[in-house]
Amino acid sequence: MAATLHFLLILLPCLSLFLAPAFSSGEAEPKVPAVFVFGDSTADVGNNNYMPGNNAKANFPHNGIDFPFSRPTGRFSNGYNGIDFLAMHVGFKRSPPPFLSLNNTSHETIKAKKGINFASGGGGILDSTGDPNSSISMTKQVQNFSTIRSQLMRQLTNQQIDKLFSKSLFLSSSGGNDIFAFFSQNKFSNVTEKKQFISTLTMKYEDHLKKLYDLGGRKFGIVDVPPIGCCPYSRSLNGTGGCLETLNELAREFNRALKIVMNKLSSTLAGMKYSIGSSNAVIMNIVNDPGALGFNETKTACCGSGKFNAESGCTPNATLCPDRRYHVFWDLLHPTHATAKFFGLAVYSGPEPFASPINFKKLVEDGN
Ligand SMILES: *[C@@H]1O[C@H](CO)[C@@H](O)[C@H](O)[C@H]1NC(C)=O
Ligand SMILES: *[C@@H]1O[C@H](CO)[C@@H](O)[C@H](O)[C@H]1NC(C)=O
Ligand SMILES: *[C@@H]1O[C@H](CO)[C@@H](O)[C@H](O)[C@H]1NC(C)=O
Ligand SMILES: *[C@@H]1O[C@H](CO)[C@@H](O)[C@H](O)[C@H]1NC(C)=O
Ligand SMILES: *[C@@H]1O[C@H](CO)[C@@H](O)[C@H](O)[C@H]1NC(C)=O
Ligand SMILES: *[C@@H]1O[C@H](CO)[C@@H](O)[C@H](O)[C@H]1NC(C)=O
Ligand SMILES: *[C@@H]1O[C@H](CO)[C@@H](O)[C@H](O)[C@H]1NC(C)=O
Ligand SMILES: *[C@@H]1O[C@H](CO)[C@@H](O)[C@H](O)[C@H]1NC(C)=O
Repeated sequence: MAATLHFLLILLPCLSLFLAPAFSSGEAEPKVPAVFVFGDSTADVGNNNYMPGNNAKANFPHNGIDFPFSRPTGRFSNGYNGIDFLAMHVGFKRSPPPFLSLNNTSHETIKAKKGINFASGGGGILDSTGDPNSSISMTKQVQNFSTIRSQLMRQLTNQQIDKLFSKSLFLSSSGGNDIFAFFSQNKFSNVTEKKQFISTLTMKYEDHLKKLYDLGGRKFGIVDVPPIGCCPYSRSLNGTGGCLETLNELAREFNRALKIVMNKLSSTLAGMKYSIGSSNAVIMNIVNDPGALGFNETKTACCGSGKFNAESGCTPNATLCPDRRYHVFWDLLHPTHATAKFFGLAVYSGPEPFASPINFKKLVEDGN
């Protein structure tokens, strides 16, 4: 790959701003009125805390150890996740709060909170992915957003709602859990079956995004699927400790199909604009050349237990690394705060392949 993340070293000084523990949104005017977030554990900021099941929670230590006041919020990270950094770049303090934490979803709340985060760890694009007691499917996330539009109609005219939503940023980060689920149920699938699966998955994603468009969304920031075959969990399943190639291939195939789907959507839906932020390109670059950005541990999770710290999640009694800044992965599946920070910067301001066809900065600065 020609493009590397070295350009980030030049941008790095600007970033020290975001490392302050009690970062408060600066003087700069936010680029959008609100952010609405959909997706899985790469984007969840605490919705799952409110779910009855316990299969996808992170609201306990050591999660959040580097979050302001070392608070475990439900984020699958030692600090912020990638969505938080994207929200910071558009001018906010961090991701808007979890939908299930809100007392009401009035216009005042949306204005005060700068949007709503619907994402839920363990969920997927397909309704069949994830435990419904522990995570909220994307279908339900979109339904919950739809409810908000109906409720806003008590306070605003349709035209006002359209204006608010069309200027807002719609972020979505999903697909990894669907691929994990397919892989675990179809270990020996052939090429035809894989193609069929990727096609079903992207068609379903297209449906979700089209619904969001119908509800008023116009600016879409889509995060692709990372190289999930290289996370500590996957490496622990490969005897040699290498990446699981099948998972990486499925992620690449999905990401390729995603580009085609987004291009198609934007050419058929009037006024739709998008950027695909590539967590895949960012993490692959870091894993292939960790030293360039100050990492030295790409295989073992910071928090967990057993081989590669990937045999358990990050629980209060798990092992915690002392050098979190040097680890690419926080737990068996998720990146660290440090990795997420580079992701946010590369996707917001970087060139292709980190964001395409435009970066998120261009997406949000584009007039309506
Ligand atoms: C919801 O309301 C309760 C009680 O009025 C309050 O303690 C809590 O902070 C509110 N939550 C949010 C997110 O505003
Ligand atoms: C909803 O919550 C917001 C912020 O917590 C508050 O300002 C507003 O008065 C509440 N609205 C209703 C209808 O309860
Ligand atoms: C979800 O919880 C309900 C009530 O506890 C239980 O009956 C059901 O079997 C659970 N479903 C799954 C998929 O675990
Ligand atoms: C979110 O949507 C789901 C599915 O429609 C519904 O079961 C749930 O009650 C909604 N949650 C809230 C808080 O409205
Ligand atoms: C792939 O597997 C399916 C179901 O097992 C089978 O029907 C199909 O013929 C196979 N295709 C190829 C190209 O091997
Ligand atoms: C396991 O990792 C090695 C590299 O160390 C790689 O060549 C091999 O294809 C991987 N195995 C699987 C099943 O992906
Ligand atoms: C990574 O670098 C830090 C700081 O130089 C050092 O303390 C740590 O031992 C290194 N870890 C590895 C696995 O090399
Ligand atoms: C941590 O404690 C839980 C519950 O007590 C136990 O199931 C789990 O195996 C422990 N994990 C580790 C890494 O020791």
